Amino acid sequence: MVVASEARGTFDFVVAANRLPVDRVTEADGTSRWQASPGGLVTAMDAVMQGQSAAWVGWAGDPGEDVAPFDRDGIRLHPIVLTADEVRGYYEGFSNETLWPLYHDVIVPPRYRRSWWASYQRVNTRFAEAIAKVAAPGATVWIHDYQLQLVPALLRALRSDLRIGWFNHIPFPPVELFGQLPWRRAVLRGLLGADFLGFQRSNDAANFTRACHQLLGTSSSGDTITWSGAEDGLIGAEPRRTRTATVPISIDFRSMDELARTPEVRRRAREIRASLGNPQTVLLGIDRLDYTKGIRHRLRAISELFGDGAIAAPEVTLLQIATPSRERVSAYQDLRSQVDGQVGRINGDHSGIGATAVHYLHHSYPKEEMAALFQAADVLLVTPLRDGMNLVAKEYVASRWDGGGALVLSEFTGAAQELSQAFLCNPHDIAGLKETILAAMREEPASARKRMLAMRRRVRSHDVHAWARHYLSALEAAPQKPNRR
Ligand code: F6P
Repeated sequence: MVVASEARGTFDFVVAANRLPVDRVTEADGTSRWQASPGGLVTAMDAVMQGQSAAWVGWAGDPGEDVAPFDRDGIRLHPIVLTADEVRGYYEGFSNETLWPLYHDVIVPPRYRRSWWASYQRVNTRFAEAIAKVAAPGATVWIHDYQLQLVPALLRALRSDLRIGWFNHIPFPPVELFGQLPWRRAVLRGLLGADFLGFQRSNDAANFTRACHQLLGTSSSGDTITWSGAEDGLIGAEPRRTRTATVPISIDFRSMDELARTPEVRRRAREIRASLGNPQTVLLGIDRLDYTKGIRHRLRAISELFGDGAIAAPEVTLLQIATPSRERVSAYQDLRSQVDGQVGRINGDHSGIGATAVHYLHHSYPKEEMAALFQAADVLLVTPLRDGMNLVAKEYVASRWDGGGALVLSEFTGAAQELSQAFLCNPHDIAGLKETILAAMREEPASARKRMLAMRRRVRSHDVHAWARHYLSALEAAPQKPNRR
């Protein structure tokens, strides 16, 4: 089926992501305004969208009323409305209680509910219809992440003239886990509607290809998967080819580096250290409060280090920042109680007056404060049990223009594939994690500096702009030609 030409839009480049690049802020007087969301994706997309006729389709972030499309910085923003039921079913339910844990090594058990799946299908259809409406003939469409896996095929059924790409910001699980999903074939078919699928790590791309082979019987040659989707009525009778590749996401190195060099950030970093009592060593953790981030394992290691007497406050302190996230989902509520309990216990056992073992803040902070925190930290602890990339690790490296600081980094992050000079750790191995933290604290300044400078070179040359360019040229070069008769 092809949408009637009068229903087609005028935008040559369309981004679709679960969220719009703006958040609605309500002022004290009850009026509301849009504010740019922080985050790398917004920066990267902004750079590639400027100068093009471009649109962004996404959820405005609240359940409720219809918001008309509007322009911001030369980009047309096209809000998708979700009802309160859809926020529960599509977003909190299927995206974050089914797919999120399933794609992160089932750290908590995924929940499979048919009503959530129905909601996910409904919302993905709404996204596909909205994109079909705004995209110009022959436009390029870049779809993001696990919330929108059905959109590629749904969109292709509406608009076979489009060049369609999808990028997975999170891991893609091995088929032994993915196979649990009752709707596993429908998800794979949804993704195979794209011309090009980008993944963070080569293992993610390989897991996807293997799942397609085992569950759909596709064949593959090199990085290209071939299959016929005729039986679904979605993709057409001709065999289709979809290319996959590894395109690890990054950050805007230059802007982070520049921000960290400003006198304000440097002054604030000194102020932070002074407020902590000028310890010899500041250990820092900054994460979304998510069970994938390994915060509990980290706290366990820290607690034992205090208990062993290997570290002591006030000489050593941990500053743990946990950004509130998905607070209505029960696994996140449980995690919060567990972390609150662990921090309370460590401080009860190992703090003194004026000697706090763990400073724990459940807040989010603007970029400037993050840059100052990175500057103030001697060691950043990034210990996820599974993470698609982990941009905090890259932001830390970009902030350390002085060559100072050390990074403890879990092997189970995408970032570990690139930042091999970090102090790599297995967060499940508490004894090993303790040793790695101590090794990072005790490293000779000259060799610590060598490590940091090598990691900076990597992030500088593989920044978010290079990522977007690489992705878009791979999408353009995908073997399947759009139907542009
Ligand atoms: O890629 C992981 C992701 O879901 C992003 O889409 C999002 O920016 C981030 O985690 C935070 O998640 P949420 O949008 O559910 O608050």
